[in-house]
Amino acid sequence: MEPTNHPITAKAHTNIALVKYWGKKDEQLIIPQNSSLSLTLDEFYTETSVAFDDTLTTDTVQFDDHLLSAQASQKITTFLDVVRELAGITTRANVITHNHVPTAAGLASSASGFAALAGAASRAAGLTLNRRDLSRLARRGSGSATRSIYGGFAAWQMGEDDQTSYAYPIAEQVDWDIVAIALVLTTAQKKVSSRDGMRLAVNTSPFYPTWVQSSQADFKTIETAIASRDFETLGHTSEQNAMRMHALTLSSDPSFSYFNADSLKAMALIRELRAAGTACYFTMDAGPNIKILCQGQDAPTVMSQFQQVFGPESVVLTRPGNGIQISD
Ligand code: DP6
Repeated sequence: MEPTNHPITAKAHTNIALVKYWGKKDEQLIIPQNSSLSLTLDEFYTETSVAFDDTLTTDTVQFDDHLLSAQASQKITTFLDVVRELAGITTRANVITHNHVPTAAGLASSASGFAALAGAASRAAGLTLNRRDLSRLARRGSGSATRSIYGGFAAWQMGEDDQTSYAYPIAEQVDWDIVAIALVLTTAQKKVSSRDGMRLAVNTSPFYPTWVQSSQADFKTIETAIASRDFETLGHTSEQNAMRMHALTLSSDPSFSYFNADSLKAMALIRELRAAGTACYFTMDAGPNIKILCQGQDAPTVMSQFQQVFGPESVVLTRPGNGIQISD
């Protein structure tokens, strides 16, 4: 395989899991214990360009205009090693990456990051991968990146091994008016990475086997809800699934939580709005920020409530986003 003689750029959006991935059965290959399902979001994305260059002696990584140290770029170099092995090359690369998130939103995501890197690095290395193989490659960087290859609703089939663990599209063009409102409560770095948090759950939570079973049921319920455009079932099941994932952090040893006081306040407000008749639901990943699922018609009401309580700059409206784009 011959690397291209010019940089290749890829753009990938982040995604929010409605059925969460939480736990691996193979740490090295990133094979999950449960299948997951997500919605790709239009507002948050990463753009990355990669050029392999014979004159380089190490990989260089420029992240939002800062040159990363070798230590900070270790995960990227390890990922590039996977690409080099696939392409049969040893050349080092220049990587330039930009995260497009609202100023200091703290929503930078390894999902969009590794999806964009997989797209740009594989093409720059001379490989032409189909989207399934691209999702398998992105998986090696970060599990949630597997799903960011596709737009709209996507699923990551857990599989058994490298060949069978990949994402596929469920509905790339979302033809109903579903929105996700991101509530940015803090931009602080999370204390327990998702990688460490899920390892702890697998190894110590007595509820872990139940999580695997119940997330399988949630997957089927949400798949059916998407097919029948049943927003309330989709929202309700996503919220339950998120809380069951967070129950694993509480039941791990040592126990911990990604909630902060504002997360709990936001959850209470969503429950209140719901009791008053607005169909809105929350979900939350490995950090205190909340994402609210609702339909476009209800977005102004929900947004104004949250803007009043948390400030206008904390509330960001996002809609279903596109899959990866790779350009020369
Ligand atoms: C809570 O994909 O960040 O967002 O595979 O170890 O890199 P690694 O983990 P990561 O975990 C994401 C966890 C989650 C749920 C999800 O996106 O499915």
